This record gives sequence, C-alpha cells and structure tokens, in this order.
Amino acid sequence: MKELLHREYRNRRAFQNYIGFYSEYKWRFVLVWLMYVVKAAPVFVLPVLTAEVINMITEPGLEPQLFTRRLYEILGIGFVVVVQNIPSHMLYVWLMSVPCRTVERDLRSALCTRLQHLSIPYHTTTKMGSLQNKVTRDVESIENMTRMLLDTVPHLLCSLVVAFAVTLYKAPLFVIFYIAVVPLAVILFVSIRDRMVRYNRDFRQSIEEMSGRVTEMLRLIPITRAHHVEDLELDNVNRRLDRIRTAGLQVDYINSIFASVNWVLLMLFNLATLVLIAFLYKKQILKIGVGDVGLLAGYFGTITTTVLAAMNCLPAITKGLESVKSIGEVLECPDIELNADKPMVTEVKGDFLFDHVSFSYPGNQKHALEDICLHVREGETVAFVGASGAGKSTIAHLVIGFVRPSSGRLLLDGVDMNTIDLRSYRKFISVVTQETLLFDGTIRDNICYGVNPTEFELMDAVRSADLLDLVESLPEGLSTRVRENGARLSGGQKQRIAIARALLRDPRVLILDEATSALDVESESQIKTALDRLIKGRTTFIVAHRLSTIRDADRIVVMNRGRIAEIGTHQELLAMNGIYADMNRKFTAAQ
Ligand SMILES: Nc1ncnc2c1ncn2[C@@H]1O[C@H](COP(=O)(O)OP(=O)(O)OP(=O)(O)O)[C@@H](O)[C@H]1O
Ligand SMILES: [Mg+2]
Repeated sequence: MKELLHREYRNRRAFQNYIGFYSEYKWRFVLVWLMYVVKAAPVFVLPVLTAEVINMITEPGLEPQLFTRRLYEILGIGFVVVVQNIPSHMLYVWLMSVPCRTVERDLRSALCTRLQHLSIPYHTTTKMGSLQNKVTRDVESIENMTRMLLDTVPHLLCSLVVAFAVTLYKAPLFVIFYIAVVPLAVILFVSIRDRMVRYNRDFRQSIEEMSGRVTEMLRLIPITRAHHVEDLELDNVNRRLDRIRTAGLQVDYINSIFASVNWVLLMLFNLATLVLIAFLYKKQILKIGVGDVGLLAGYFGTITTTVLAAMNCLPAITKGLESVKSIGEVLECPDIELNADKPMVTEVKGDFLFDHVSFSYPGNQKHALEDICLHVREGETVAFVGASGAGKSTIAHLVIGFVRPSSGRLLLDGVDMNTIDLRSYRKFISVVTQETLLFDGTIRDNICYGVNPTEFELMDAVRSADLLDLVESLPEGLSTRVRENGARLSGGQKQRIAIARALLRDPRVLILDEATSALDVESESQIKTALDRLIKGRTTFIVAHRLSTIRDADRIVVMNRGRIAEIGTHQELLAMNGIYADMNRKFTAAQ
C-alpha cells in the first residue's frame, strides 16, 4: 500500500500507473490466463469435435464398427473437456479475485491514508462528495477494468490462436482474411479514441461535481427548509444533473457509434468470408469436408465476435484509466502536512512565541494575520477578542498546526513549529470549537475519542463537564447512541461532550474557539468551574465573543483586521479606554 502513495502519477501515463498497481501479481496473472485457457477449452474443442462428427457422417464407406468407436471416443473427450470446467473455473476465479480485491482494498486504504495526511485547507476547499466518489466509484471502475481484461484478453488470444492454427492446418489461404480483421478494428479505435477519452473525463468530472453538490445539499437541508429555498437548491442540483445528462449522452453517443460501426464492419466481413468459402468449396479450389466448411465459418464467427467483445471493452477501459487519473490526483497531491523525517516531540511545556507572523489563506490576497508578535508563556491563559473576521480562529489554526505562517516564525518551547512532527505535538493539545463534531457511536465512545480512560476518570470528566444530569436522564446513560453529528443532542450538550473529551486528554495546551458559545448563561457559569479546572496549569488560547468568559484571562489580546490592536489584562484594557473598553461597554449594556 505504501508503494501506492509514493508513485509519481502525474509524470506517467494512466496505463503505466494502472499496470503498476498490480506489479506484484505478474506471475499470478499469467497463471490466471493459463487457467482461462483450460477452463475455456470446451469452446475451442467442441467445434473441432462437431466438425469431426459431420465429416464422419458424410464420409462414404466408413465401417459401422469404426464409426461407433470413434463416436464414443469423441463423447469421452467431449465429456472430460466439458466437466473439467467446474474445478478450473473456480480456480480461475479464485486466482483472479485475490489480486483484484486486494488492490481494491489497497487503493481505498491508500486514498484514505492520503486524505488523512492532506492539509486542512485542502479539505476545506475540496468537496467531500467528490472525494467520496474517488474512494468508491473510481476504485470500482478500476477493478471492473481489471476483471474485464483478465477475462477478455485470454479469450481473445485463445480464439485468435486456435482459429489461426486450425485454419492454417485446414485452409492456409484463409489466414490472410483473419489478419485483415485486426488492423481494421485498430484503425477504427484510433480514429475515435481522443473523443472517447475526452467525453469520459467530462463525464467523470461532472459526476464528481454532482456528488459534491448533493453532499452539500444534504448538509444544508435544515437551513434550506427554514429559509424556504428548496427550489433554489433543487435548481442548483438539477443544473448539475443536466450537465451529467449531457456528458453522459456524449459518452453513450461515442460508445454507440463505436460499437455499431464495429459490429457492422465485422459482420460484413463475416458474410463475405462465408460466401467466399462456399464459392471456393463449390469450385473445388478448397479441398475440405462439409464439416470443415462449417468449422471454418464457425471460427470466423468466433473471431469476429471476440474482436467485437474486445473492442466493446474499450469504453470501459477508457473509463477505468480515467479513474486511475482521478485517484492519482489525490494520491499524489502535494498539499500534505510534511511530518516525515521531522523530530517527534516527547514533551510540551506550552511556551509559544509568535515572531512577526503573517498569514494569508491560499487564494485569498488579503492577510488574515499581519505581523503578529506575541509571547504566550507556559501555563498562561490568553484570550482573543475582536470583530468577526479579525483573525482569531486563524491564530487557533496556527497553534494547532492546521496552517503554517506565510512569513515569520511560530516557536513552540523555543523550537520552530515548522521543524517538528506536528502529529506528535498534537497529542499534547485539546481543541474545543464552536461546532462540535460527533460521530455515530455512544456518548461514551464520543467522550473517549482517542483516549482510553478508566471508568473513574471517565465519570470524573463527565461530572466536571456538567454532563451528569444529561447522562442520568437517558435510559441507556453513557451507552446512548448519538447519531452522526450528534443529531440527538442540543448544541450545549454537544459542547459539554467536547469539554469532557478535552478534560480526559489532560492536554498541555488548550484551544477553546467559541467553546461556550452554544451554552446559555446559566450553563456557562456552571461550566465555568469545569473550564477553570481545565485551564489551570495549561497554556490556554481562548477565543470568545462573550466577554464574561474571558475576564479572568491572564492577558486579553484585542485583534483588529489581522493585527494586534491592544493587549493587557481586563483592568488594564479598561483603563486604556480603547477598543476593548468600548466592546465591554456595549457588552454590559446588552446584558
Ligand atoms: N479557509 C479560508 N480561506 C480563505 N480565507 C479565509 C479562510 N478562513 C478565514 N479566512 C479569512 O481570514 C480572515 C480571518 O478569519 P478568522 O476565521 O480567523 O476570523 P475570526 O476572527 O475567527 O472571526 P469569527 O469571530 O467570525 O470567527 C477573514 O477575513 C476570513 O475571510
Ligand atoms: Mg472564528
């Protein structure tokens, strides 16, 4: 699986990448093909036996005894050749399925691994639905293509070889006709290939776009319903569905031209050879039995249908290769957190130094943060306030390591955060945000996410996060299932779960971004004790709109348009009579 992550997808052709997925199964595939020949033997042997029987019937003066003996021989051979298909087919499927299913799993696992490593900005800008599509649909197309190749290629080769050999033996002249079929098909494919590739790409992209849109639509349904803008949403989705319809029609159109022209050409060819055989037989140019005429005509039929079958695989192969490109986009996406080879952190004190840090989000010209200089000491609680868009959450993202400074440095305990393995650092932090994400599991699972506490520690956290009443009121207590995203819980309940989660992790650094925004004043004051306990002795970054939450912070930083405008304790800032004092007046008036 590792190998899948370290390939260079962009510099190679899709087919090369595709072959690479299965490189370790080369010999097994040879075996699959051999097994195919064995299992498909009846298809090639039965016509020969049939021809033999017809020849025998039409042969004048064949002794009845010899006739019967040969007939039994033919029956015996036929029986064995047909019945062996059961074990050989099973073996064939097993030989083929193992690599197919393994690569299917490995590709999905590689995609998920890469998605876990891709940066948070990548995820916020890429639609979830389109990524889901890659993990499910594209991997499936690749697997389908493999199964088809393993089935069709040996079939094609066998048919060609057998037909070729038998014809060479019975009527060498006809080999020329076989040879003519192949270039005919190839010319047709080459003339149509570019359009087929392009239409498939458009189709795949419009499907991804639609999946992304549908996921978003599902997420927005409560808001859409509340604002009665269902029609707008549906218009939006329908527009994408229209695009898929157009792209799909184009794919169908090109596939249909291809299939029908192929079919007609090959059938005409078939017809021509049949007439020719009859003609040559009648004129006594071809000295063969009646059975052989049937055999030759039959093989022409086989050859044309096989070439047709092979050509009909081409649309699916084009689709499969498009999927290889599609997953390659993710597997080779460079936008990952570079943690490899960086030293692990084994201890975090919690001293942060923002050294002239500026930051702007990709694709956004405006600085989200500009020239931030700030020293947050070990164990200190620093609160950030300011208007919406002032850059408070961006500071939190820098501290978590979701984003890195565009210029300047952020030092953790004196070490540049760019130089450490952020994954090891994050074991020491806890994050509680405004939007608490819960997964489909029990309350206990959600609280214990990533940690393994004792029952006592768990109950202590539940109590401290003021969750005991809730838990006791539920018939199944901690084992109550919360649906995906905590659909069964209130915003405040979800936030308290997040606080319990943070308590259990016992972090060195705490990041609270609007952590209490979903709580009413009363619950907030109840939780305040829990939070105070949580904050004690840890470096804490608090972002809050409600000033009551942050009065006790060691320092308050007032942000204004990405810059630090004021800094000091509550009292000092009030005395300064600047932005903070103004905010405080408005806040107290509103209370
Ligand atoms: N993912 C993003 N891509 C581009 N720009 C962003 C992104 N996130 C935030 N910004 C911009 O960065 C600036 C700072 O945003 P930030 O989220 O830090 O504000 P904030 O102070 O947390 O605001 P709020 O109080 O509303 O949460 C804003 O101007 C915003 O437009
Ligand atoms: Mg914010």
